Amino acid sequence: MTQNEDKVARGSGDGKFVYDRWMEAQGVPIHRGYFIEDLRTVDVGPWAERECNAAFIQLEGMEGVAEARISELPGGTTVPPTKFALDEVVYTLAGSGICTVWAEGVSKHSFEFGPRSLFLIPRGATRQFANARGDQPLRLLHNSYLPVAMSLEPDPEFYFSNPYGHPELLQPKEGELYAVASRASGMGRGATWYGNFFTDMGAWEDLVPHRQRGGGGHVVDVSFPHSQMGGHMSVFPPGTYKKGHRHGPGRVIVIPAGEGYSIMWPEGGEKVIAPWHEGSMFTPPDRWFHQHFNTSVTPARYLALAPLPQFNGHSEKVEDRARDQIEYPREEAWIREMFVEELGKKGLDILMPEEAYTNASYDWGYAAGQEKGAVLGAASGDR
Ligand SMILES: [Fe+2]
Repeated sequence: MTQNEDKVARGSGDGKFVYDRWMEAQGVPIHRGYFIEDLRTVDVGPWAERECNAAFIQLEGMEGVAEARISELPGGTTVPPTKFALDEVVYTLAGSGICTVWAEGVSKHSFEFGPRSLFLIPRGATRQFANARGDQPLRLLHNSYLPVAMSLEPDPEFYFSNPYGHPELLQPKEGELYAVASRASGMGRGATWYGNFFTDMGAWEDLVPHRQRGGGGHVVDVSFPHSQMGGHMSVFPPGTYKKGHRHGPGRVIVIPAGEGYSIMWPEGGEKVIAPWHEGSMFTPPDRWFHQHFNTSVTPARYLALAPLPQFNGHSEKVEDRARDQIEYPREEAWIREMFVEELGKKGLDILMPEEAYTNASYDWGYAAGQEKGAVLGAASGDR
């Protein structure tokens, strides 16, 4: 290794990570900023090596913690198989496809997916994507911890040409592989779905009340088998908003349904407003407060793909809530005023109960039947 190459491997003091250099060398568009209003329409460019169109999404809040990458397959096309050494979560932004996965000694397994499908491809597996439609593109969002891994082993070949496999991850119990996720008992906060395939996050309905974060919201935890990856999806009613809170960086948040906006700000600093609807993405930077507002006539939902647990941030512990979550009575008045104004532009009314602004421990009323499985009192959470 030359001295110059060594400098690249160890970083040259410009704040870039090894992953950033690899990403910039791929020659496809890189989208930066605090949010992307529509991942379904941002520019992609040809990625010759993968024989598809692609773009990288590197938002301020990702901070070298997570990868978010778009791939797009024109109608009727199939890309060459690729092998990848790390777990990878895939979310379908648009279109329908067929994914085939295999490993040495394990026969090929194919499954179909559609808009807003979410699935995990286990580390070491070879995968091949095909667009199931001839008349429209298939657009996927890929999420992995590659930026962290590349800081440990900078050689891309280690990730894309590594013969090491995990055939056992593709030989689970009968019926488990790319079967629709099932509800797990004894995990998380009462509504954990365990599996490697979620059909449509825009329609996933088995959720439990999420009292801690206000807004009358519900939550479901997503747990992938044998993986550190996972996340959660929050669903909250029209005319309401969540409590401001903060935690660590690297959460890839995408919107499966609904319309609204989120405000993100560092303590004492400028506010960033991220408008959203289906296909939007944003990532709150490390320790920035953020708050989600629903301006739809239907429940809005956001899917948050979690970083490695090392990056959760200590603030997620419940005992720190007083410092890391802003209860409604303590929030700045303009937060509520802006929400009323935004709803008014659509002819909608705020549906926040008045008592929520005077009683910090206001107990949101959940209709009978919405309580199933809910034991949320002691939950930790980045929700
Ligand atoms: Fe959050």
